[in-house]
Amino acid sequence: MMAELLDVNAGVERFAPIAPKDWAAIPEALRPNLLGFTGQTMWEGAEAALGLDAAGFVNKAWCALEAHSPEIQRRTALTWESATGALETYTFAQLNEHANCVANGLQSLGVTKGDRVFVFLERIPELYWTILGILKLGAIAGPLFAAFGPDAVQDRLSDSGAVAIVTSPVLKARVDGVRDELPNLKHVIVVDHRSTTGWQRQPGDVSYAECIANQSHVFKTVHTTADDGSVMHYTSGTTGKPKGALHRHGAILSQWATAKYVLDLKPETDVYWCTADPGWVTGTAYGMFGPWSMGVHQLVTEAPFNASHWYRLIQDHGVTVWYTAPTAIRMLMKAGEALPVQYDLSSLRHLCSVGEPLNPEAIVWGQKALGHAFHDTWWQTETGCMHVVNTPTMAIKPGSMGKPIVGIVVGILNEQWEPVPEGEEGHLALRPSAPSLFKTYWNREEVYQSKFQNGWYLTGDRAWQDADGYVWFVGRDDDVINTAGHLVGPFEVESALVEHPAVAEAAVIGKPCPERLEVVKAFVSLKTEYLPENDEAKTKLLNDIQQFVRHRLAAHAMPREISLVDSIPKTRSGKIMRRLLKARELGLPEGDLSTLEE
Ligand code: PRX
Repeated sequence: MMAELLDVNAGVERFAPIAPKDWAAIPEALRPNLLGFTGQTMWEGAEAALGLDAAGFVNKAWCALEAHSPEIQRRTALTWESATGALETYTFAQLNEHANCVANGLQSLGVTKGDRVFVFLERIPELYWTILGILKLGAIAGPLFAAFGPDAVQDRLSDSGAVAIVTSPVLKARVDGVRDELPNLKHVIVVDHRSTTGWQRQPGDVSYAECIANQSHVFKTVHTTADDGSVMHYTSGTTGKPKGALHRHGAILSQWATAKYVLDLKPETDVYWCTADPGWVTGTAYGMFGPWSMGVHQLVTEAPFNASHWYRLIQDHGVTVWYTAPTAIRMLMKAGEALPVQYDLSSLRHLCSVGEPLNPEAIVWGQKALGHAFHDTWWQTETGCMHVVNTPTMAIKPGSMGKPIVGIVVGILNEQWEPVPEGEEGHLALRPSAPSLFKTYWNREEVYQSKFQNGWYLTGDRAWQDADGYVWFVGRDDDVINTAGHLVGPFEVESALVEHPAVAEAAVIGKPCPERLEVVKAFVSLKTEYLPENDEAKTKLLNDIQQFVRHRLAAHAMPREISLVDSIPKTRSGKIMRRLLKARELGLPEGDLSTLEE
């Protein structure tokens, strides 16, 4: 059923496999590694390459900033283009100095190893070096997407017991609104030097200009081991509020290796652009740590998506390697083939994609319009690094996510958590061996444990594997919605909906969408006194409910469609039957209704 909904594999036969390119350029010694030779792991050799010592010191920020030769330290690490087109560049040494100021500033406020510090900023350079500074101090960094509303911010700060948050004058208002509910939050640090917007100082507020910018540029990174917590990204499941997936510092080993062998990054020549925001795992693992630990120059743009702007960025900055997402690719396809030819995109040499199923059409379009096929990569917040990939040397089978990286064993399992025969669909699972696999869900150890069965880590996805080892995505195994590459938990949206005064009950599903993969669709029943009298009142009320969710959670979590219903179908034990609502919405068979409430 899910395959039909997501239409991932449709038309696969129409496209012949795409042959590997640049085979001759790959050193002989690496070829078995890239072809799935299982005698070693992809991350083998990472410790030595990163210069990690035998005393067990591993710190992601140190690897990203200080593990480099003096020559690399002097090279550009970051080119940043502001929303208005202003440019700033920073060398690795300069990024390190800024991160050191942050570490010193936080230390002066009493923040110590293991504390949780959140970063709630627009995509500006401070966002990047603040995360790095937090990690150098040994504290746990919680990056927050700047589009989050007050409820989303409160859920994450409260669950993690965060002691500090670094934010901007504009975003601070969303923190102020929920501050009374956050007894652990001692410091709100406001990045005030870029902004002309004034801000109201409250008890506990700290000016970045006063507290951070004047600190020493020198800081000795706190001793952390591979097992110590580093970054925490909240991720959605079917039940409960989003959970904090905690990464270890040791994740850098597999992030370095996959940046090298899958993204194929080369520090001497590449200008690399990862379009993901650090509020999501791709934006930290491959928009910070993997590439910077390799000494690679990265481009960051503050501006949101715009097709012409994106092509112009590639042209002006000579982007060579590009990591983006299917929704963005589909939006570029929609903008037409006449657009890219207006730009010189000849610098591009390797394209990768993540976050959603990559349609075969998008791969073929990349070849035609940009001169290169997109290479799909599959992974998730919990895995911490790419796990199923298309390396530059593999033949691409359009519609497949590729093969497991060297050192990772994939299992397609039945309901007893046993492998199914080749070609059959089942639960996508992994042997838990990558150093980047998450350490726990914060405060939710029992949910973390439930993800491991029979020696497998269960990903929550469904897939099948062909005779050549290629893995084909079928769909989610649960009710989590993937909208434009962002996971949204139905429970989170339903909780926001029922806080609206007119809503009695709510249920939320993912509705297939040709552009965004899925959109959030809500079904709500109203309290009698709020039933609208006419169509005009109904439209106004539905719009009001939409905006209510948008402001509390985030724009991507806002239901694009809302249907009014008399009641929400539930099981006899009171669980919302989202699958039934989805089947009805899509005109599919309703399945087993024996547990439906009378
Ligand atoms: O369902 C899969 C989908 O996104 C989920 C992970 O989402 P998140 O934790 O937010 O991390 C996103 C970026 C790593 C997966 O369980 N997903 C991710 N990549 C792919 C994908 N679905 C199909 N094809 C992919 N390449």
